[in-house]
Amino acid sequence: MDVIVGGGVVGLSVAWRLAREGRPVTVIDPAPGSGASHAAAGMLAPVSEVTYTEAPLLRLGVASLRRWPAFAAELAADAGLGTTGLEAGGQESPEHAVGLRLAPGAPPGRGLDLRADGTLDVAFGADDLAALEELAAFMDKLGLPVERLTGRECRRLEPMLAPSVRGGLLAPDDAWVNPRRVTAALLTALERRGVPLVRARATGLLHEDGAVVGVRLEPGGEVRGERVVLAAGAWSGGLADVPVRPVKGQIMRLRSPQPLLSRCVRGAVHGSSVYLVPRGDGELVVGATQEEMGFDTKVTAGGLYELLRDARELVPGVTELEVADVVAGLRPGTPDNLPVIGPSGTPGLVYATGHHRGGVLLAPLTTAILLGEESELAALCAPGRFRDLS
Ligand code: GLY
Repeated sequence: MDVIVGGGVVGLSVAWRLAREGRPVTVIDPAPGSGASHAAAGMLAPVSEVTYTEAPLLRLGVASLRRWPAFAAELAADAGLGTTGLEAGGQESPEHAVGLRLAPGAPPGRGLDLRADGTLDVAFGADDLAALEELAAFMDKLGLPVERLTGRECRRLEPMLAPSVRGGLLAPDDAWVNPRRVTAALLTALERRGVPLVRARATGLLHEDGAVVGVRLEPGGEVRGERVVLAAGAWSGGLADVPVRPVKGQIMRLRSPQPLLSRCVRGAVHGSSVYLVPRGDGELVVGATQEEMGFDTKVTAGGLYELLRDARELVPGVTELEVADVVAGLRPGTPDNLPVIGPSGTPGLVYATGHHRGGVLLAPLTTAILLGEESELAALCAPGRFRDLS
């Protein structure tokens, strides 16, 4: 049996794919779906989430985004959700395009709320424009589609943008999904497959003869298995020797009677990056701070102030919206911002952690790596790369 420690999007996805392969699995988590996955905006945005120095992360993200349509369709079917509101892209899609498109007439906000209308990254000043041009040149070199837009073209796409926007970059294949719906669907799919969920906290790994053979639980007891898959996000470093640290993100959900935006919009304001993600159900997600504060999950006045101040620069109308939800989550950061996926140096222990800002995006790829379907990309995520770190 495989014991999956962690019931976020990554852990639940791994459990679900293994269960679909007919493997016996058990999931351990005191409150599944309540950590980083609950806070996450769900951006499936490999192009607009990277900087031009992050080619390996971009490769992982693009590969995982390609897997999302099939992953979502299988998950929706397994969870009994019916349509995901998506169909595959047409023949005319260029080879590198992901090909996610909303089915004509599909009601938004249903199923997993997977949408693929691209990300518009906007700039206000000369420095921001130069940074966008650097990113665009990087994408051109890799053959990934991006469109350079003037301020006027940006506002034609998104009329609620501030008049001071001077230009932008459209990443047409970037997409997004509602992570809360994804975790709920995964939990339903796992229940329908009879996968046990142990609602307890794993406090340590059980070792025997140099191998990991299970986990200890709080308030007592243990679960044993042939393999332990550590998918405990920011808490992974407390359970095993893996360099994962918490990176706090505060995020806000606003409620909009009429959609303010039709695609994900982001931009750099006052040196920090802010993004706005419209949901099919009328929510507008505004995120996120990036703070090195240990395991602190307090929502602070300063954090919310920064988010609102920056979001208002992009889209002045946000201040009219009702606040629906504010939350802080902990991203599992690693020294090189790449996830840690695959066998550890210890027999019986496998990692699926360290996804930092990309857990939702990278969940399908993570399952594929663990099932041996992506050996080349697996090398980028190999846990062994940190063994020489002291
Ligand atoms: N992926 C966006 C974030 O971590 O804030």
